[in-house]
Amino acid sequence: MRTLAITLLALLLLGGSSAAQTNNCIVCHSEIRVDYLESAHAPVGVTCVDCHGGDPATLDYQAAHAESSTPKRERIPQLCASCHADPIKMKPYGLRIDQYAEYQTSEHGKAFAAGDLNVAICTDCHTSHRVMSRFEPRSSVHPENLLQTCARCHADPDLMGQYGLRTDTLDGFRQGVHGRALQKGNPRAPTCATCHGLHGSTLLKADDIVTVCGTCHIAERQQFDKGPHRAALAKGCVSCHQDHRILPAQSDLFDTVCAQCHNSETTAHSLGERLKTLLSESQSALLEAEAVLKQAEAMAFDVSGYRSRLHEAQTSFLQARTVQHALDETRLAELTRRAHAIANDIRGEAHSLQTAVQIRWLGLTLVWGYLILVVIVIYLYRQARL
Ligand code: HEC
Ligand code: HEC
Ligand code: HEC
Ligand code: HEC
Ligand code: HEC
Ligand code: HEC
Ligand code: HEC
Ligand code: HEC
Ligand code: HEC
Repeated sequence: MRTLAITLLALLLLGGSSAAQTNNCIVCHSEIRVDYLESAHAPVGVTCVDCHGGDPATLDYQAAHAESSTPKRERIPQLCASCHADPIKMKPYGLRIDQYAEYQTSEHGKAFAAGDLNVAICTDCHTSHRVMSRFEPRSSVHPENLLQTCARCHADPDLMGQYGLRTDTLDGFRQGVHGRALQKGNPRAPTCATCHGLHGSTLLKADDIVTVCGTCHIAERQQFDKGPHRAALAKGCVSCHQDHRILPAQSDLFDTVCAQCHNSETTAHSLGERLKTLLSESQSALLEAEAVLKQAEAMAFDVSGYRSRLHEAQTSFLQARTVQHALDETRLAELTRRAHAIANDIRGEAHSLQTAVQIRWLGLTLVWGYLILVVIVIYLYRQARL
């Protein structure tokens, strides 16, 4: 019922007598028909003539094309915007109307306005005929497919070479934590457009970088804001983590990263080493505690009490990794010591439990051995007496 109402309204608003009529364009243009019929435009009565003109009622080649044309590249954004920036035409569909306005503020849009036809326009990202809703998994702008959509230009060395831009953004992204998470279907993972903006594709500056990363990594951002690097680093988070090929965070980052800017005589450098030691020592303690618990579990002990304490220690450790972003040694030491102490306790206790059991087993074995020996001796003695 709702769909019907929307369609009727659409026909009215789009002046869509065309949709009600037969569309003979698709009779001859059979390859385009396949794409078009799958598009979001087909069901709402946006037809060939809305973008091309011409007479859809006839099957005569001349008559059909008398008034038709292929839109010129320089006119396409305005053509799309003639509907998509029009609040009255878009109202029935609940679509935003700011794509064109945002596009004009993007690096793409600015270069386009200056006459550069190489940059992305609406149809490069959405296609001309297979224009699909962003929720449709086959859409060219669906998160998984978007990488390929951007890469068509951004992985092309000839094109990017003209602008002095890197071509490793896509490969880097795929190899990094975010690309892997996206591939595994993690809905919280960012794609190209999450960081660069959908229609406002822009190059990110330090403040934007911290804001963008901080929308998901809230605690890291809060800590980072408190520390001396916030005002000092020109590229915010990516000064240490890279922009696309972001690797899983580990304490060896301290070795590779801090030395890039602080040489080994500086206090900053030695602070880095101390933070690293605190973090990596408590991490090994946690791993050992975990291993001991696994052994105890294999011996059929109930370790649930220990598990919840280990969890507490792990939480402290994760907090410490986050606090590292404020370069706050006192707080970090507090947290790592706590994690370390709990891990040591668990290891010690689980160990003594195991030892106690081992002693019990040894005791039992001795008792049984003694009993069997006594039985054998009695048996032999009786044999000898007979
Ligand atoms: C009788 C068959 C027929 C009908 C009907 C028809 N076309 Fe075509 N159209 C063709 C052929 C053949 C070509 C030229 C070969 C090609 O480019 O595919 C063509 C070319 C085109 C082109 C490319 C023109 C260019 O030179 O860039 C456009 C755009 C086009 N048609 C749109 C339409 C539209 C819109 C309609 C309906 C109003 C339509 N056609 C109806 C057969 C037809
Ligand atoms: C939303 C707007 C829009 C609609 C609807 C649309 N087209 Fe197009 N079409 C374009 C644009 C933009 C281009 C030029 C850019 C390109 O080549 O992709 C184009 C290119 C073409 C071309 C020439 C290039 C080619 O791909 O061979 C033909 C032929 C064509 N369209 C036919 C059709 C037919 C037939 C329909 C209806 C089934 C249709 N178009 C519907 C926007 C549209
Ligand atoms: C650089 C690629 C790119 C360009 C250029 C681009 N878009 Fe988009 N567009 C996207 C992405 C990505 C999405 C959203 C996908 C999502 O939300 O997951 C989107 C979403 C949309 C949507 C639906 C979502 C909404 O905002 O309500 C419309 C309509 C749209 N674009 C129209 C346009 C128009 C019109 C133009 C040209 C002025 C354009 N786009 C240019 C990439 C692009
Ligand atoms: C004649 C008006 C008209 C023109 C011209 C037009 N569109 Fe649309 N478009 C619509 C309407 C109406 C919808 C709503 C479909 C829906 O929500 O079911 C739509 C839907 C879309 C969507 C899907 C939005 C979503 O995520 O649900 C995208 C993307 C889109 N159009 C892009 C374009 C691009 C790119 C162009 C230019 C090549 C274009 N449109 C030209 C009217 C138009
Ligand atoms: C049709 C080719 C094309 C497509 C598709 C395309 N881009 Fe671009 N993009 C360019 C070109 C060319 C430039 C260089 C513009 C300039 O610097 O004047 C550019 C510039 C950029 C910039 C600014 C970099 C800078 O320093 O100027 C960003 C960010 C960007 N694109 C991101 C994206 C994203 C994200 C996507 C996919 C959603 C995408 N692009 C899709 C061609 C494309
Ligand atoms: C997690 C956020 C994030 C994601 C996801 C992301 N980028 Fe970036 N991108 C950045 C940051 C931050 C910079 C700026 C780095 C700098 O200033 O050195 C950047 C820079 C760029 C540049 C400019 C490169 C140059 O040579 O200066 C391009 C082009 C670009 N990204 C394209 C892409 C494409 C294509 C994708 C998808 C495969 C993507 N980005 C995904 C954050 C991201
Ligand atoms: C849209 C949300 C989002 C944005 C924006 C985002 N990330 Fe992430 N990030 C994630 C998710 C989700 C993961 C977890 C991936 C996994 O473990 O599967 C992650 C993982 C990471 C990791 C690895 C953490 C670990 O435990 O090893 C680092 C480092 C990271 N991101 C840094 C950044 C930086 C730097 C930026 C900005 C350039 C950024 N992220 C932007 C969602 C985001
Ligand atoms: C000065 C270098 C540096 C900067 C700048 C930096 N980080 Fe980190 N980050 C690290 C190091 C080193 C680790 C690894 C700590 C460990 O595991 O021992 C890390 C770990 C992480 C982790 C995984 C651990 C956790 O906290 O869950 C995430 C996510 C992360 N950083 C995000 C960010 C974000 C977001 C920003 C910007 C607000 C940022 N980082 C800025 C050096 C940095
Ligand atoms: C991209 C360069 C860069 C990287 C990478 C970097 N720093 Fe810094 N750091 C700076 C700048 C610039 C300042 C502010 C100026 C100053 O005081 O030296 C600063 C300040 C500091 C300060 C406070 C001032 C001081 O000198 O004591 C400490 C501590 C510090 N950094 C530690 C680290 C640690 C630890 C790492 C590695 C996790 C690291 N930095 C990575 C550039 C960097």
